[in-house]
Amino acid sequence: MSTFTTSPVSDLLQRLFADNEASAAKLREMFAGVSAEERTRRMADANRNYRAFYTKAKDIHLAVSPETGRLLYMLGRATRAKAIVEFGTSFGISTICMAAALRDNGGGHLIGSEFEPSKLAHARANLEAAGLADLVEIREGDAIETLASDLPDTIDLVLLDGHKPLYSRILDYVAPRLRPGACLVADNADACPDYIARVRAPDGGFVSTPFADDVELSIKL
Ligand SMILES: C[S@@+](CC[C@H](N)C(=O)[O-])C[C@H]1O[C@@H](n2cnc3c(N)ncnc32)[C@H](O)[C@@H]1O
Repeated sequence: MSTFTTSPVSDLLQRLFADNEASAAKLREMFAGVSAEERTRRMADANRNYRAFYTKAKDIHLAVSPETGRLLYMLGRATRAKAIVEFGTSFGISTICMAAALRDNGGGHLIGSEFEPSKLAHARANLEAAGLADLVEIREGDAIETLASDLPDTIDLVLLDGHKPLYSRILDYVAPRLRPGACLVADNADACPDYIARVRAPDGGFVSTPFADDVELSIKL
């Protein structure tokens, strides 16, 4: 048995992924008439006012897929993670998946990041309901500032899921602390070509592969 597959986490995740689906309809409304290519182009645009977009989307979960959530739990277990960093927490769905791995690894610390106050409140409430709040610190504010310091000396697992053009900057913060075998998961990876170029570079210190729907999985050599 595992924390991930049993109550309260399994029931809560089922409900939250259903909420995610429902709120995705609002996102489709926001992007009505915009092609998938144009959406990716906008997500990748470093000059866009990203804060304004995320404020408009504050009631939308924007969560990873259930499959990616399951993968995050599995990677947390496989790496025997004790220290996890998350860029972009939202309602805490991915956070719950990774914190469940910490619980089953015997404990640890997850540092999340979120700048929308209402999402932060939802995430904290969801982590309480999951019984995982003691393992998670969510840093409020722009991750460019909140993740720039006070990171653990050694990091086992990273999820990149905030503003896409910032993935490479966040990689700068975590890279010196990634232990060999540490995993990085980047969601919506098509929108961050500079990050992809770094993790796929033959001499970049990673082995990396795209898979599923727009996810990049990388391992630190
Ligand atoms: C795609 S959602 C994250 C979904 C979450 N990982 C999950 O699977 O449940 C991205 C979130 O990151 C937040 N965000 C984006 N850029 C950020 C930044 N620079 N600093 C802090 N939060 C950011 C947004 O407000 C949004 O809630």
